[in-house]
Amino acid sequence: RRKQEARLLELLDRTCRYYERQLWSAAEAGGARAELQRRGLDPELLREFRVGYAPSAFERVLTASRHAGYRPEELLAAGLVQRSRDRRDRVYDRFRRRITFPLADRRGRILGFGARALGADQKPKYVNSADGPVYHKGQHLFAAHLARKHAARVGEVILCEGYTDVIALHQAGRRNAVGLMGTALTPDQVGELRRMASVLVLALDADAAGRKAMLKAADLAAGSGLELQVAMLPDGMDPADMLVKRGAAALDQAFGRTISIGRFRVGQALEEADLQTAEGKDRAIADLRPIFATIDPGVLRMELVQDVARRLRLDPTVLGPLLDGPGGPPA
Ligand code: GTP
Ligand code: MN
Ligand code: MN
Ligand code: MN
Ligand code: MN
Repeated sequence: RRKQEARLLELLDRTCRYYERQLWSAAEAGGARAELQRRGLDPELLREFRVGYAPSAFERVLTASRHAGYRPEELLAAGLVQRSRDRRDRVYDRFRRRITFPLADRRGRILGFGARALGADQKPKYVNSADGPVYHKGQHLFAAHLARKHAARVGEVILCEGYTDVIALHQAGRRNAVGLMGTALTPDQVGELRRMASVLVLALDADAAGRKAMLKAADLAAGSGLELQVAMLPDGMDPADMLVKRGAAALDQAFGRTISIGRFRVGQALEEADLQTAEGKDRAIADLRPIFATIDPGVLRMELVQDVARRLRLDPTVLGPLLDGPGGPPA
């Protein structure tokens, strides 16, 4: 079994090297190189992340690997090929005409790939490795092997949504960033983040889906011992968009003024509240109560009570006890 796993890791690594060579030297990868350049990503960093290009042909990896002595079952187990829909005995390359982002374990051994389409016509936008003996969706964090020592040094780890977001953050000097790769945060990943640092900075996309996912992630990480912060990006943007539209310095600066998870939660609850009627305000207070139960007494709490009071147009001394609930303020 050990030997079989070693063979799969070897296969994944040589496939990664093949994709890398394609990106930098194949004529058909011109579009991929242009796309990465348009995104403002530095070639040196792309080499460090081992970004590559999977050609459009159906049997490149399949044929080359078979010549090198790998069996079709091994290619399937490595998640590099898939079965034909109508001819189940046939397999063909899973990643075609896409930019490839290798996913590594904490030691940097490649376990799989995420692959991005080049044009808007190509669906889906991302294809990831299928689960198998080495790759398990939800168990890994993108770039954990590159971010680990930096996260340990600064005591913080940054979590964002996508491959390009992680690379953009590293380019902006935030070398302690890791990525989720399109899944909701899992308990395994929370454990991994906790081993990396004691402060977790959430930097998911600044859109409705991203904010919802940050609240869910915060719920999951509660009790893990991680201190949670949220990075505020301009509305609608993710870190990769920000690198292109505002530049590396602005992206870096956004991480110099993160907010506490409590402030973020209060802000989100107020976003969703109807503050025009007494009934709406009562519902908002009911929603805010469990949030305030997680915020210790102190200056932040006082400030947040005052913010909410202003929005609800109530006297803070009246609102304070309403937010405390029956048990009073947290001890
Ligand atoms: P870019 O255009 O490459 O910047 O992606 P995005 O910012 O629009 O991606 P989005 O915020 O929608 O998703 C973030 C991450 O989710 C990506 O890096 C992928 O890991 C994953 N993801 C996005 N779309 C898909 C998809 O269609 N299929 C799968 N399997 N994963 C996806
Ligand atoms: Mn595993
Ligand atoms: Mn998104
Ligand atoms: Mn995004
Ligand atoms: Mn993006």
